[in-house]
Amino acid sequence: MQQFGIAITGSGSATPPLALDNHGLSQVVETSDEWISSRTGIRQRCLAAPHQSLAQLATEAAQAAIAMAGIAPTDLDLIILATSTPDDLFGTASLIQAHIGASRAVAFDLTAACSGFIFGLVTAAQFVRTGVYQNVLLIGADILSRWVDWSDRRTCVLFGDGAGAVVLQANDRDRLLGFELRSDGTQNNCLNLAYQPQPYALTPEVAIAQGSYQPITMNGQEVYRFAVKQVPEIIEKALFRANLTTEQVDWLLLHQANQRILDAVAQRLKIPAEKVISNLAKYGNTSAASIPLALDAEVRQQRVKPGDIIAAAGFGAGLTWGATIFAWGR
Ligand code: UT7
Repeated sequence: MQQFGIAITGSGSATPPLALDNHGLSQVVETSDEWISSRTGIRQRCLAAPHQSLAQLATEAAQAAIAMAGIAPTDLDLIILATSTPDDLFGTASLIQAHIGASRAVAFDLTAACSGFIFGLVTAAQFVRTGVYQNVLLIGADILSRWVDWSDRRTCVLFGDGAGAVVLQANDRDRLLGFELRSDGTQNNCLNLAYQPQPYALTPEVAIAQGSYQPITMNGQEVYRFAVKQVPEIIEKALFRANLTTEQVDWLLLHQANQRILDAVAQRLKIPAEKVISNLAKYGNTSAASIPLALDAEVRQQRVKPGDIIAAAGFGAGLTWGATIFAWGR
């Protein structure tokens, strides 16, 4: 079967204007700037206002990515929204399709928590490689502030809100050089945003559940251990598939969870600190948005240049983790 190449030709991002720094957060829970910044590297996070929707944030990021790619919204064949916090559990991607006027595109949501962008990238690539679609918009967006337990200092200090997007296009040269994806449901209880059912008797014979989603619970130390072990391994596997070595990597672009995780992974892979992309200080952990949000800033500052080789890896709830190796641009 003929295979078509893929290029990532545009990026965009959006964050809410409202930022809460660590000092501000210490009015909410018993914590300090010293603890948060030394343990995580986070100094502030952007938080969506009550009236802001995920679709609005995602639309802003999407429009910037489409403009950079130099295509019209009507050129899009497919829109994938990676999110765990849709405005509507039936899906939010279609609303974004309407907002941007991508009338030809089919749109759907994809859930893989903090790995969502990487899983979305590989999913999108399959449609392009097979020649089915030419232009795909991939968005990673989350508003976790709506699902954090703001009385739990072990989790609430970590998360922020945001959206990032990229455009993938069919291309003569294939710029997605390698990937590897993984899941391990045996560790599912490490990180959850779970539905809690309440029994409800419809009739004397028939009971169903009515309930609600409960705030995020996390075993931070387990997730930390999992990340520093699995992420270097999966990047090495993706590099092997790309027939590249770590020395050939220009940028290490990890899911922005904790600066200590970024440092530990880079150290294991022997990738120098100046090649490690980090926006944690400004945004915290923005879940599915963190990779495209960080990428977009580097592209717009022209630090990431066409042809640069990027090793990108996501990890998080599921547990899920995955890595892609791609070259930026055509
Ligand atoms: O998207 C993926 C999602 N999650 C992650 O990647 C999280 C991975 N895990 C981590 O990043 C780290 O485990 C955390 C940053 C969450 C926690 O750091 P840690 O070094 O593992 O701290 P810890 O949980 O072992 O807690 C150490 C101490 C405890 O006090 P005691 O029991 O030693 O007296 C905590 O109660 O720090 C205390 N603590 C805090 N103190 C001030 C926990 N959170 C806070 C806080 N402020 N916010």
